[in-house]
Amino acid sequence: MPRCEEKNGTCERSIYVNNPHLDSMKEDILYHFNLGTSSHDLPAMFEDVKFVCVGGSPWRMKSFTEYIAKDLGLADPNAEYPNLCKGTDRYAMFKVGPLLSVSHGMGIPSISIMLHELIKLLYHARCTDVTVVRIGTSGGIGLKPGTVVVTKQSVDAMFKPSFEQIILGKPVVRSTELDGKLAEDLLKCGDDLGEFETVIGNTMCTLDFYEGQARLDGAFCSYTEEDKQIYLAEAYAAGVRNIEMESSVFAAMCKLSNLRAAVVCVTLLDRQKGDQLTSSHDVLNDYQQRPQMLIRHYIKKKLNASKKS
Ligand code: URA
Repeated sequence: MPRCEEKNGTCERSIYVNNPHLDSMKEDILYHFNLGTSSHDLPAMFEDVKFVCVGGSPWRMKSFTEYIAKDLGLADPNAEYPNLCKGTDRYAMFKVGPLLSVSHGMGIPSISIMLHELIKLLYHARCTDVTVVRIGTSGGIGLKPGTVVVTKQSVDAMFKPSFEQIILGKPVVRSTELDGKLAEDLLKCGDDLGEFETVIGNTMCTLDFYEGQARLDGAFCSYTEEDKQIYLAEAYAAGVRNIEMESSVFAAMCKLSNLRAAVVCVTLLDRQKGDQLTSSHDVLNDYQQRPQMLIRHYIKKKLNASKKS
C-alpha cells in the first residue's frame, strides 16, 4: 500500500529512503549528478517536481523536455534547457515546470546508480506525490513493431516477478510490483491517442542484449534457432510481451521508496521474426517518439485535472 502523510491539510505521498547512516552525514554528495545538499539548494531547485521521466539516452531526454515544454505551454517555447548535471557526463537531467527528465544509460547497474541518487534528490528536496515513468525501447514478442507496451509486471529471465541483488555476499530478493492504476491510466492514454497500438503485458528484464535475450547474432552463441523460439514461446506463455534491460530494478527501487511508477516501452522489432534492427533510422525514430507522446498526454490530463480542482 502506498504511504501518505498529512501536509497542508491533505494526505500527500512522501518519498522514502531507508538508510540510518544518511542522518549522520553532514552533507550528501550526489556524485554522479554533481549535485549535493551543501552545494545546492535542492528544495528550491526541485520541490515542485511531480513527474519524473527516465530513459536511456541523454539526447532523447533533452528532446523530451523540449517537446513537453512546447506542447504544454509550460515555459517560453524558445527557452534553453540546460543539463542540471553540470561537469559530469554520467547522466543528464533537465527540468521544465513540474517535469524532471533524467537519462539512465543502459542496463541494471547504470539505472540503479542513477535511481539511488534520484530518490535521495527527491527526498532531500521534500518532493511529494511524484509519478516516475521509464520510457524506452524494447524487443517485442508476438507484437507488430512499433507497438507500445505498458508493463503489468517486470519479470526476470526465468519469468519471476522479482529482482535479486547480492548484498554483503547474500542474495536479497525484492518485489517488482508496479502501480496497477497508473498502468491502466497509461493504457487508456494510448487508446485516447489512437495513433499506434498500445497493450499491457509483462516485461522481461535481462542482464544482456545478446545471449540474455536469446539473440543468435552476438559474438558468442551456444544454442539453436529452435532453442531460441522455444524460450520466446515460453516467455510469451508467461505473459511476456517485451524484453528490455532496466525495468526490474526500476520497479523494485520505486516500490521501496513509495514512488508511483510505470514502465512504457515501444517495441522496435518482433523477436520471433529476427534479432537485428533492420528498420530505417526514420522508422526507429518515429517508434521512439511513441512512449513520449503517451506520457505527454498523461501529463496534460493530470495538469488539466489539477487546474480544475
Ligand atoms: N532494447 C532491448 O533491450 N532489446 C531489444 O531488442 C531492443 C531494445
